[in-house]
Amino acid sequence: MSRVVVTGRVPDAAIEKLRVEHEVDAWQGPESISRDELLRRVAGADAILTLLTERVDGELLDTAGPQLKVVANVAVGYDNIDVAACRERGVVATNTPGVLTEATADIAFALILMATRRLGEGERIIRDRQPWKWGMFFLLGTGLQGKTLGIVGMGGIGQATARRAKAFGMDVVYQSRSEIDPDVAAELGARRVALDELLAVSDVVSLHCPYGPATHHLIGAEQLSAMKSSAYLVNTARGPIVDEAALATALRDGTIAGAGLDVFEREPEVHPELLELGNVALVPHLGSATIETRTAMATLAADNALAVLRGELPPTPIG
Ligand code: GLV
Repeated sequence: MSRVVVTGRVPDAAIEKLRVEHEVDAWQGPESISRDELLRRVAGADAILTLLTERVDGELLDTAGPQLKVVANVAVGYDNIDVAACRERGVVATNTPGVLTEATADIAFALILMATRRLGEGERIIRDRQPWKWGMFFLLGTGLQGKTLGIVGMGGIGQATARRAKAFGMDVVYQSRSEIDPDVAAELGARRVALDELLAVSDVVSLHCPYGPATHHLIGAEQLSAMKSSAYLVNTARGPIVDEAALATALRDGTIAGAGLDVFEREPEVHPELLELGNVALVPHLGSATIETRTAMATLAADNALAVLRGELPPTPIG
């Protein structure tokens, strides 16, 4: 029996799976675990299930000890994990791709609709008890049909967002490190372009690339200026892909028309200027937040940990 540490609350199904074979120490606090408590608990662990709020670095891995075999992130993004440090110590790192694809694409599309149809503004008017009545020109938004969606990062979530865009009558262009399956590209009618062209032609730009040194502030003042002044930016990937201060300025000055954000540069902080602007829809990192998806993510992370502890290949290793 091995010792498995779970660094935050996860659906019971995953804990039950782990408990069949191992001793499980799961953090139950309502708040994220503190760094000190985390380091105290991981000491002697054979496996750690981590949430994206926990940083997994050399210090944590060394504190855990040489018996540590696997770090199973309960997230598809793994910018919280120093993968090289894991590799150096022979620790397998895993993530949860696939199971959150549809939920995250749903939130991307929800933000596209919130931003283009001004739903947040409308709700605030009602909740603030401001006077309103139906009017020909009241809160007019922008239609999506016949418009172009530019997808930055055409992995599973980008493709699922493109599929939704197609159902809404949009054209799709995408920028991606690699060519996607030609059958999928044909089904979506999606054309691969360079980022410059994507920014210039898109009516909505939606970000779906991983975060890392190569994508830090990928969208800054220069890229925002390259977008149409009528265009919208949506980010459901990771906050620091966008220079938030530059985005606030672009939204305030009318460089672009609006934005929808599920992720922020310094979560849970939001740039104070964004909070003052009506033309940005803000939601608190809800991409994968459905009961079904979170259960599937935690269960997949448990399966990854269990496989490594049994000496088998995990279903979804990183890299
Ligand atoms: C959520 O942000 C994830 O990466 O799973």
